[in-house]
Amino acid sequence: MKIALGSDHAGFSLKKEIIKHLEEKGMEIKDFGTYTEDSCDYPDFALKVAEEVSAQNFELGILVCGTGIGISIAANKVPGIRAAACTDTFAAHACREHNNANILAIGERIVGTGLALDIVDTFLNSKFEGGRHQRRIDKITEIEKKYK
Ligand code: RB5
Repeated sequence: MKIALGSDHAGFSLKKEIIKHLEEKGMEIKDFGTYTEDSCDYPDFALKVAEEVSAQNFELGILVCGTGIGISIAANKVPGIRAAACTDTFAAHACREHNNANILAIGERIVGTGLALDIVDTFLNSKFEGGRHQRRIDKITEIEKKYK
């Protein structure tokens, strides 16, 4: 599984921990920045990761900012992206199983590193359940089409 990662300055430190964690598991990852703690704008990195996931160059993405909220809002503007900001492991598996989320967003200022890594593992190990949930995803896609 190929994972695209991105963050702003407020998520930089947690992103580094997530990258270390995933590399230790032998996962194929690519970091689309930011690469320093200098102040920057989260939509820039949301866009890079969201475009890569939408183009199916990467199966899933992980984005980190201060709250996980701004970066998920930005990522969700890219057609085909379903980014979920998660602060617990229930949301991390439910967003895969029910919403077929393809990007996980986490807030470094909200969750500690241990919980964040559990959220990441839960997200990556959960699968979309399809069935009635696919009908709802199709309706989300219809909303995207309406405003294209
Ligand atoms: C940056 O200060 C902060 O606003 C950003 O990381 C994020 O939390 C926005 O949603």
